[in-house]
Amino acid sequence: MIITGGGTGIGRATALGFAERGDRVLVVGRTAATLEESVARHENIRSFVADVTAPGAGERLVEAALRTFGRLDVLVNNAATGSFAPLAKLDRAAVERQLATDLVAPAFVAQAALDALEETGGTIVNVSTAASLTTQGFRDNAVYMAAKAGLNQFTRSWAVELAPRGIRVVSVAPGVTDTGIGQRVGMSDDQYQGFLEQISQRIPVGRVATPEEVAWWITTLAEPGGSYMTGAIVPVDGGLTLT
Ligand SMILES: NC(=O)c1ccc[n+]([C@@H]2O[C@H](COP(=O)([O-])OP(=O)(O)OC[C@H]3O[C@@H](n4cnc5c(N)ncnc54)[C@H](OP(=O)(O)O)[C@@H]3O)[C@@H](O)[C@H]2O)c1
Repeated sequence: MIITGGGTGIGRATALGFAERGDRVLVVGRTAATLEESVARHENIRSFVADVTAPGAGERLVEAALRTFGRLDVLVNNAATGSFAPLAKLDRAAVERQLATDLVAPAFVAQAALDALEETGGTIVNVSTAASLTTQGFRDNAVYMAAKAGLNQFTRSWAVELAPRGIRVVSVAPGVTDTGIGQRVGMSDDQYQGFLEQISQRIPVGRVATPEEVAWWITTLAEPGGSYMTGAIVPVDGGLTLT
């Protein structure tokens, strides 16, 4: 298994979920320290430091997974970044960085993994966002939402393209999940807690998700028993997008 962004949040919980099922997992990210924290959680987890947007990163991390484990069954395209700005204040470098991480990198990491996944009859899981499945607009967050909408179309199109090669492509679309992502996109602790409390009132199940509740769906959709599902984008959002 390869999990991009496996040093934090949903990626780390997913790595642990696979590892506890007996799978061997390579977690990928730019920060060695957080990756090592994931490695310390389970003996089946190994790390590889890489920026997924760098040219050739996909080849390097697939090669590392094959060298370490001898096979590749699942690629989870989970790494993403966010930055909020209205159209009037968009910064070109920030937009290009965001699209490179959230949209372009998943394509080229997946491309590098194709032969290895074909050998195992493997699965690509793209981590989207439940909000991208609605017809709503999202103030100050257009670039992230556009990237995730694009990723959804990758999931559907690759599912059709890769089915003849025996590779499934599915997606989990999380709702609001308490991973501390708010602080990483520039909110203060108080702003993030306020956001979580406010949004919880709108969520039918009455609370935000834990990373483990999202990870369960990622690991489960990737199981061999899921062999007849491809191209599906599964919302895991406590019902939020139904309201
Ligand atoms: N949390 C939510 O409420 C929520 C809701 C909907 C969807 N999602 C989606 O779920 C996924 C995980 O989110 P999360 O909340 O767990 O976020 P997170 O903790 O911020 O995880 C993002 C991970 O991606 C890695 N990453 C970012 N840029 C990278 C790059 N260029 N190369 C390699 N790794 C990179 C980060 O590690 P480094 O910085 O060390 O590289 C980090 O480990 C994302 O796709 C996100 O869009 C989250």
